[in-house]
Amino acid sequence: MKTPISSIAILLMAVSCSTQLGKSPVEKVVGEMTLDEKVRTVVGTFTDVATPPPVAPGVQNRADYPGAGENTARTYNQVPGAAGDGYPVARLGIPAIVYADGPAGLRIDPRREGEQATYFCTAFPSASLLSASWDPALVERVGAAIGDEVLRYGVDILLAPGMNLQRNPLTGRNFEYYSEDPLLSGLTAAAYVNGVQSQGVGTSVKHFAANNQELYRNGINEIISDRALRELYLRGFEIVVKKAQPWTVMSSYNKINGTYASENNWLLSDVLRDEWGYEGFVMTDWFGADDPVLQMEAGNDLLMPGTPNQIDELSEAVASGKLPVEVLDRNVARILRVLEKAPRVRGYAYKNDPDLSAHAVISREAATEGMVLLHNNGVLPLRESKSVALFGNYAYDTQPGGSGSGYVNRAYKITLDKGLEAAGFKLDKALADSYRKHIAFEKSQMPEEYFWVVPTASEYKVSTSQIAASSKSDIAVITLGRMSGEGGDRSATEGDYLLSAQEKLLLKDVYKTFHGQGKPVVVVFNIGAPVDLSGVEAFADAILLAWLPGQEAGYAITDILTGAVNPSGKLPVTLAGRYEDVPSARNFGLSAGEINTVRYEEELMVGYRYFSTSGVKPLYPFGYGLSYTSFEYSDFLVDGDVLQVTVKNTGSCAGRETVQFYVAKPAIESGRPARELCAFAKTSSLEPGCTETLRVPLADTVNPLEQWADGRWVLAHGPYRFWAAASSEDLRLSCEVNM
Ligand code: BGC
Repeated sequence: MKTPISSIAILLMAVSCSTQLGKSPVEKVVGEMTLDEKVRTVVGTFTDVATPPPVAPGVQNRADYPGAGENTARTYNQVPGAAGDGYPVARLGIPAIVYADGPAGLRIDPRREGEQATYFCTAFPSASLLSASWDPALVERVGAAIGDEVLRYGVDILLAPGMNLQRNPLTGRNFEYYSEDPLLSGLTAAAYVNGVQSQGVGTSVKHFAANNQELYRNGINEIISDRALRELYLRGFEIVVKKAQPWTVMSSYNKINGTYASENNWLLSDVLRDEWGYEGFVMTDWFGADDPVLQMEAGNDLLMPGTPNQIDELSEAVASGKLPVEVLDRNVARILRVLEKAPRVRGYAYKNDPDLSAHAVISREAATEGMVLLHNNGVLPLRESKSVALFGNYAYDTQPGGSGSGYVNRAYKITLDKGLEAAGFKLDKALADSYRKHIAFEKSQMPEEYFWVVPTASEYKVSTSQIAASSKSDIAVITLGRMSGEGGDRSATEGDYLLSAQEKLLLKDVYKTFHGQGKPVVVVFNIGAPVDLSGVEAFADAILLAWLPGQEAGYAITDILTGAVNPSGKLPVTLAGRYEDVPSARNFGLSAGEINTVRYEEELMVGYRYFSTSGVKPLYPFGYGLSYTSFEYSDFLVDGDVLQVTVKNTGSCAGRETVQFYVAKPAIESGRPARELCAFAKTSSLEPGCTETLRVPLADTVNPLEQWADGRWVLAHGPYRFWAAASSEDLRLSCEVNM
């Protein structure tokens, strides 16, 4: 009997259907894909043709893209508010993978049309606060909590962490990045990635590499020496790749030495894969596109969020032989090898049920661990609940995070006024009412807050008579803040990097009035990146750098002010005395007389590397931060590959101390910094009189004693001086070792 044609077709289908991602070898899956399926697998599923983003001159702003922020342009809107999706090939068991931001918590839409249910996520402290904790174990816990929300909300890959170096304080996205130091950035990022990925979901470390400014980010050509690239701008990524194997890496928009990062074969293939052993796949940043064929060849495996044009161009390129199909196959296979692990492929059934209350506790704890006490003449901690005159908009409209893709749709935010009230402080009511009324009125005239735009009211002009009337309170707390976000940098002008005349007047008037009556003034800064704090100490008994501390902001700041938590955060960046002192100040944004080019002329002299070498005094040095107790260091030694120091709590309350180890390397080439961070460790909470001996491996993942010279890593012979230090300028103990 003859088998009917239809039965043969069914039989064939059954045979091909037996090849399934996750069950069959990836090569077999790729082998069964059509050319069209392969091309679509390397391109996301955005449906509109994006307007090419402008390169210089003209600031790149994602509002230029059709459908920006509205999620209307995604074909597979499985998780509303996610940033993008992959292409599904159902017959091969490949689902549409969901990609969503971002660093301080998952960013998805909190509400869905026609549903009562909400989909809020926890807003955790932003990156610069997390690194200020100098506590990778804590960061790993934060990562695990974020990963849990990613998993339970049906997302496969989180577009985080951001880990570009904070080269200049004006970079608009600094709050999303960790530090001016690559070791601190790399180890913090690795902890974050390990935490997120421990939940069975992926990360995308971004933006690879040197996305150190927002101005002209889509076309800026950065001229960076090989040595600065290796030792500073790539080093953190090298650490995270080697220590945590992120599922994906996101290439950056910018050019490095003339080539777009996403078209840079040296960067994405030679360095990332061949040298560092990277096993995941690389995706572009959103619409980071110029030539899809070059991107494919360079090893930029996935183009996000994808445009129909890219599909056409790649299909034609393969058909004409311009793009070898082997390159396409290689990239598809890399993507599928990662997707095999994704929750959607594993068949994980998500229920949208994260434990937001438990995560709020972690968010609050993390926030307190990274706040930095900059100045305290003994007024903090506030031992008992008192009456407070609370000044400054940001006390009543405290900001948990920055704007842009790093924004989180949280269920609520605890502002400082609420945090203080919850701890039993009595706020001056008339003053609080005036502030609240002013903020509510101004915000009612502004657009609703959404991720791209977070409107803030103009600083309320408090009159001298209001200050006088409020001085019946026991203390004054002034909170000043700044918002920034993706799409633009900040400026070294009044009201931005510099305090405004009005803010200065507020500090002065409040200080004069309260001090006249012997009452303390505490100043809190709610900022994601440095502002000019010079002169503030003259009007403040205490200064707390609270960063952008996440949704529990008000509770966490209050925990520090009351001493419920002893501050232990230390600066992950230098706070310069003047913007002009910042080594990259002359070469930020655009280099003078250049079109579309910025030259990293400061070379290795970024942040404390410059200040400690040049002798220029910073206002507050890298690694600096006060505690309510004091610590003494002893018995410092380099024991083979281990640095060892003993820390004693010599004060009167329990506290934690971060010890930083710096090294002066024998210079192979000129321009070597006087000292560089080579390791760090934080004690557990030490009771008064107690000691802890910290033993830290000198090389965690990479060897921090190496220097880049003549195109390779070199370990120079000669004497190495090591310090155990409380900050980059507070070198407590030292020893010399001949290597
Ligand atoms: C940002 C990325 C982000 C992506 C998706 C881009 O504009 O630069 O950091 O992950 O959008 O939202």
